[in-house]
Amino acid sequence: MAALIQISHLLLFILLYYPSLSASFTVIMSDSGAPSALVDGPQSGFSLHNAAVRTDPAEQSAVYDIMSATGNPWATQIPDVCGGRWHGIECMPDNHNLFHVVSLSFGSLSDDTAFPTCDPTRSTISPSLAKLPHLRTLFFYRCFTDNPQIVPSFLGQLGPSLQTLVLRENGLIGPIPTELTNLTRLKVLDLHGNNLNGSIPVGLNRLVGLRSLDLSWNKLTGSIPSLGLDNLRILDLSQNILTGWIPNRILTCRSLIKLDLSRNSLMGVIPESITEFKDLVLLDLSYNQISCPLPTSLQHLSSLEVLILKGNPMGCTMSNDLFDGMLSLMTLILSNMGFRGPIPRSLGRLPNLRVLHLDANYFNGSIPSNFQDLRNLNDLRLNNNMLTGRIPLQKQTIWKMKRKLTLYNNSNLCYDSETGVIDMSASPYSVGIGPCNGPNSEPSRTVQHVSKGKENVTRSDTSLGTRRTSSILVWLFQLTTCIWLIIKLL
Ligand SMILES: *[C@@H]1O[C@H](CO)[C@@H](O)[C@H](O)[C@H]1NC(C)=O
Ligand SMILES: *[C@@H]1O[C@H](CO)[C@@H](O)[C@H](O)[C@H]1NC(C)=O
Ligand SMILES: *[C@@H]1O[C@H](CO)[C@@H](O)[C@H](O)[C@H]1NC(C)=O
Ligand SMILES: *[C@@H]1O[C@H](CO)[C@@H](O)[C@H](O)[C@H]1NC(C)=O
Ligand SMILES: *[C@@H]1O[C@H](CO)[C@@H](O)[C@H](O)[C@H]1NC(C)=O
Repeated sequence: MAALIQISHLLLFILLYYPSLSASFTVIMSDSGAPSALVDGPQSGFSLHNAAVRTDPAEQSAVYDIMSATGNPWATQIPDVCGGRWHGIECMPDNHNLFHVVSLSFGSLSDDTAFPTCDPTRSTISPSLAKLPHLRTLFFYRCFTDNPQIVPSFLGQLGPSLQTLVLRENGLIGPIPTELTNLTRLKVLDLHGNNLNGSIPVGLNRLVGLRSLDLSWNKLTGSIPSLGLDNLRILDLSQNILTGWIPNRILTCRSLIKLDLSRNSLMGVIPESITEFKDLVLLDLSYNQISCPLPTSLQHLSSLEVLILKGNPMGCTMSNDLFDGMLSLMTLILSNMGFRGPIPRSLGRLPNLRVLHLDANYFNGSIPSNFQDLRNLNDLRLNNNMLTGRIPLQKQTIWKMKRKLTLYNNSNLCYDSETGVIDMSASPYSVGIGPCNGPNSEPSRTVQHVSKGKENVTRSDTSLGTRRTSSILVWLFQLTTCIWLIIKLL
């Protein structure tokens, strides 16, 4: 996962959405659908010290109830909650200058967040919430963790106004109430990290304005319902117990940029119609039971930057041109999938590829020679395969990758002896790899131990002299080594 951090273009995206990296962040979608603000720190709003502010009395008393139910009774001392406002409440005036509550947020996202915190042992969601008819955003983070509760069905009464409902990591139990499907104005529904069980309500397809649906890290069962949501940009159902086939209808969510169905028990093949996702940037289907073949239409996913399929026991061969056309691809994780046969040559034609994990498969034959064109590669795992022959990587690329190049446990890989200058065989990540022209391709002991003593010094010194220096880096390395050796010999 750490490797993902290096994808600069995706950095923000991943920080915001990748659960394992950012369990403690969430996102409010702007009207354009792009993530606009990390809800981390004080929200902007109007801080009125205007004595003339009048909060709608019914809403005022509802807010008192809600605050008391979360262990924040101090709020009941505030005569006008919209006037003496705190971070976590936002209000808007109507034409008669009467203020209405439009946003309520609870929970400490970080040490600097100023949202009211909840008492996790006693907090409840007050039914008075249904008395806030102007509420657009409701946000609870780690509020009810020690007092497990169900998602209250009265939330469905906020239908006409509510646009963002975030109930993240709250220890909520029970099913997703079908009443939530009455929230037809919702743009963001985030129930990540609870203990919700039962199936995903089919009625969610009523939420036609939905842009982000995150039900990940729960205990949801059943199959994925058909969600023909044209505006959906983010769908994250990862880490549940979902079964069945990947539904074709999901593919009518044409605007998807992120689809994460990883860590479920989904079966079947990836449908060819996956090409409908013209904008898809991240596709993670790892750790399911998805089977062969991979769709040939994968090639048309020209926006895709991250493809993660590891841990699906596919066990087939891949056609050589499978990845042609995926010109945006930066991260490809195909570890532990039982793939056989040769590594597809088309991988060497992905100019933006940075992270490539093909480890723990049964790839045989040699590494495609065009891998030397992968200039941006900085994380390559080929260990635990049956590969043979020369490692066709530029010295600079190998040097750059350091420990992120793993080659151990292959059949008979070797490196150009020139490459040995950078001491590849010494790495535990490349054990067993010798120079190609060495005796029986055994690991070289000559260059590896340059610093061990006079005999080794002399040997590597002469061999250094005969090598063609084709890069400044190698040349500099040699120069420093020579100087160091001379000093040592004196
Ligand atoms: C949700 O809508 C259904 C009709 O679709 C209605 O019967 C039900 O009372 C509504 N529930 C809430 C909580 O508004
Ligand atoms: C969901 O979990 C609750 C306990 O938390 C349990 O009583 C209920 O039977 C479960 N429902 C399903 C459908 O698994
Ligand atoms: C690679 O493995 C396949 C079987 O999976 C075999 O048919 C093929 O001959 C092997 N190729 C090489 C170069 O060993
Ligand atoms: C080496 O890789 C093969 C897969 O090609 C695997 O079956 C085997 O278990 C691996 N050996 C070790 C020691 O990990
Ligand atoms: C040279 O390197 C080899 C390889 O490890 C080592 O066994 C040997 O002791 C070294 N020679 C000297 C003189 O240090």
